[in-house]
Amino acid sequence: MPDGMSLRRLSARELRRDHDFQVRLALWNRERLALRAPPQDWQGELVAEIEMRAAETAFIEAARAEQRERAFEAPRDADGFVRWFEALKGNGPGQGDRLFDWLESAASYDDMRWFVAQETAGEAGFDDLVAMAQIKAPAQAKLELARNYWDEMGRGNAKGMHGPMLDQLGYCLDVRPAIETTLAPALALGNTMTALASNRAYGYHALGALGAIELTAPTRAGRVSAGLKRLNVPAKARHYFDLHAVLDVKHSEAWNREVFASIVGATPEAAPLLAEGALMRLQCGADCFDAYRTYFWGREGNAPS
Ligand SMILES: [Fe+2]
Ligand SMILES: [Fe+2]
Repeated sequence: MPDGMSLRRLSARELRRDHDFQVRLALWNRERLALRAPPQDWQGELVAEIEMRAAETAFIEAARAEQRERAFEAPRDADGFVRWFEALKGNGPGQGDRLFDWLESAASYDDMRWFVAQETAGEAGFDDLVAMAQIKAPAQAKLELARNYWDEMGRGNAKGMHGPMLDQLGYCLDVRPAIETTLAPALALGNTMTALASNRAYGYHALGALGAIELTAPTRAGRVSAGLKRLNVPAKARHYFDLHAVLDVKHSEAWNREVFASIVGATPEAAPLLAEGALMRLQCGADCFDAYRTYFWGREGNAPS
């Protein structure tokens, strides 16, 4: 784990690829967000927490610096911002990555198992992220976050909850996601989402990052689902990806209108912060795709023909 001084010298890109660093953050996130009893040594825990929070903040600030210039271009009016945001679907980091053509048409069953394990281990839990992000949000945005959360909860039906649906795919493919065997960029993605959602000072960033997931997930989910179907994975197990290929199109439209347009309309200075969060999330994704391609195809990054 880099110390405080060297953390400040490392770029966000280097930190996203630092496995020891990302493993420590991921283990800490798992521990601190768990439902548990108060610690015996609460003072010792607070001292340890300061060190981890400093590391987390250094990481997030480096990632902000990387996106600041581009985020600053985001329009400060509601309609302009939503147009800028929607364009990220085509021009945002990692969009149209050829990894997904390959997953759809050529990846083997074992390749797909490995991919699902990476994606599951890095998953921070969209439901909890939304729940944390809605704290003190203005009413119109908060209502949309509530609707979105309710969908994540299967509208009160355990079988319709999104988190367990992904677990279901994991069981079917017999994958055992573990932090230690997950590539650094996949952990960095979950660590970034958790950092943004759990620190109120990054509340606008969290909303931007979550909206970026809704915007870009459908295309990827559709391709992964097609790949799973080609590999004869049963429809029940594919359901998580089938569902998100369709539902997130609606979630994204509603998020852009009810969350982004309403917030930027009332608070134009939030626009670059929402934009930074979105770009930071997409950059995390782009780094994952890059690392996955290298794992599958080797350093040259060419798909085997
Ligand atoms: Fe979902
Ligand atoms: Fe969604």
